[in-house]
Amino acid sequence: MRTIISTDKLSKIYQHRDGIVNALQDISLSINQGDFVTITGPSGSGKSTLLMALCGLIKPSGGTICFFDKDLTRASDQELSRFRQDHVGFIMQNFSLIPYMTALQNTMFPLILNGYEKQDQINRAISALKVVGLNNRLNHFPRELSAGQQQRVAIARAMVNKPSLIFADEPTGNLDPALAFDILNILKSINQVEAITIIIVTHSMDAAEYGNVKIRLNDGTVVNIESVL
Ligand SMILES: Nc1ncnc2c1ncn2[C@@H]1O[C@H](COP(=O)(O)OP(=O)(O)OP(=O)(O)O)[C@@H](O)[C@H]1O
Ligand SMILES: [Mg+2]
Repeated sequence: MRTIISTDKLSKIYQHRDGIVNALQDISLSINQGDFVTITGPSGSGKSTLLMALCGLIKPSGGTICFFDKDLTRASDQELSRFRQDHVGFIMQNFSLIPYMTALQNTMFPLILNGYEKQDQINRAISALKVVGLNNRLNHFPRELSAGQQQRVAIARAMVNKPSLIFADEPTGNLDPALAFDILNILKSINQVEAITIIIVTHSMDAAEYGNVKIRLNDGTVVNIESVL
């Protein structure tokens, strides 16, 4: 299996008026194409910081991040946004759907930036919504959807571009356990059927069990990586 994303001695220092925070220190890890990775650790251990660094949303203070053989830490802002647009889907805890757009429009949103034909955008968005079982709610606005359905739209939006990687920060954090289970199963099937590498942050030990690679952080460092092939 090829390494899709790796870090070498990655660090992130936040400069804050109350002093500096060593949010990540000396993180070296390697993730293969097709892995389902779970990142756990106490609050403040650096999980969200690591996720944002891996997808190029924050600049590390030291070390390198490679996407295949491309060093993202040397990439320009333009190259980084291109990388995110072409290769990354992102799911946040609080859904972050656009309130005045329907499920279909929210899902189409990443495609607009890529300049596909309108009908092509619609078809691609509908097929992503089918994968998450929501093609019967195309014209519902976020407020007209349940919490679990909103999160499924967020997943459809994250995968509509057929990214190589999907990052999710606490994708089940706001959901009751049964819904959380549904969302994790959808992510697992996207991982297996669409062969998309998935990296999620979670507080839940049950959710962490979905990973074939389990990374545990404490105080900005990796305390354990468990990997099952
Ligand atoms: N923009 C920032 N400026 C300064 N310090 C920050 C900033 N963002 C995060 N931190 C600090 O960096 C550390 C890591 O934060 P991070 O958000 O990565 O933790 P986390 O593991 O995701 O926590 P949680 O489980 O609560 O979401 C924390 O101590 C936090 O206070
Ligand atoms: Mg966090």
